[in-house]
Amino acid sequence: MRKKVTVVGGGFVGSTTAQRIHDDGLADVVLTDILEDVPAGKALDMAQSATIFGSNSSVMGISTAKGDYSATANSDIVVITAGFPRKPGMSRDDLLKLNYDVVKTVVEQIVKHSPNAILIMVTNPLDAMAQAALHVSKFPKNRVLGMAGVLDSARMSRFVAMELNVSVENINCFVLGGHGDDMVPLTRYSTVAGIPLPELISKEKLDAIVTRTRKGGAEIVNLLKTGSAYYAPSAATVEMVEAILHDKKKILPCAVYLEGEYGIKGLFVGVPVKLGEKGAEEIVQVKLTDAEQAELNKSAASVRELVNVLGI
Ligand code: LAC
Repeated sequence: MRKKVTVVGGGFVGSTTAQRIHDDGLADVVLTDILEDVPAGKALDMAQSATIFGSNSSVMGISTAKGDYSATANSDIVVITAGFPRKPGMSRDDLLKLNYDVVKTVVEQIVKHSPNAILIMVTNPLDAMAQAALHVSKFPKNRVLGMAGVLDSARMSRFVAMELNVSVENINCFVLGGHGDDMVPLTRYSTVAGIPLPELISKEKLDAIVTRTRKGGAEIVNLLKTGSAYYAPSAATVEMVEAILHDKKKILPCAVYLEGEYGIKGLFVGVPVKLGEKGAEEIVQVKLTDAEQAELNKSAASVRELVNVLGI
């Protein structure tokens, strides 16, 4: 039997995520939105495209306007993208309370219909939203993840590829910390064909890449004017979905609940995680320099502030 993935929120990030999962034939997909007919229309459009390239996955779109989540029942993975997007000038953190209410409502319903699902949080500010999802769902911590490290690392990889004019296939960047302006691009552990970045790029240029990575989301918001990025966020989400569905044991930077790892306790922060069928199967701990640890602590403190505001 094919696996089932529900994507909550039919905006650009959600519908592009649903499309990628469906097109790649990774799972049967349910796309939900609070709008009345739009999710059904998007799903029908996706399903019709499959007659051209031949995906055998099914995709259906349902409206949750009346609070009915029954069509999502028994999902293996639920990706939550629902929430208000960032507008120009708005920080991820401004979204906090607005999106907490959305996430709480959604997670309560998901728990009811898919008690064994793995949750992937995409709604911003996503580290805090992942903490909210863990709090509301009471799921074991291995089944609640936040997507962001993969996205931020993908952005960094692209900037490195542009700088060095090398194939993106050679590049493996690692960005840890919260998905905020003080995320931690780990240049020492980022490589091109196995060669650490500081061997290949001057400090000045590397600093510029780090800065551009940190502002990667805002750069796109400023260009789009009425929304935020979705091609790379959805691709990053699908890499996580695929790693879990195919039990890949793939190590990716993801937001997970730390209980002392990296010296951080009781908080979602992005760290290297082994993803497999059980979700976050292992947190991989690497040695950080004092400066890197200080940056990670700073980033974690920003997440902690948000979590404290929510009182969770
Ligand atoms: C970004 C938003 C989705 O980084 O947080 O593009």
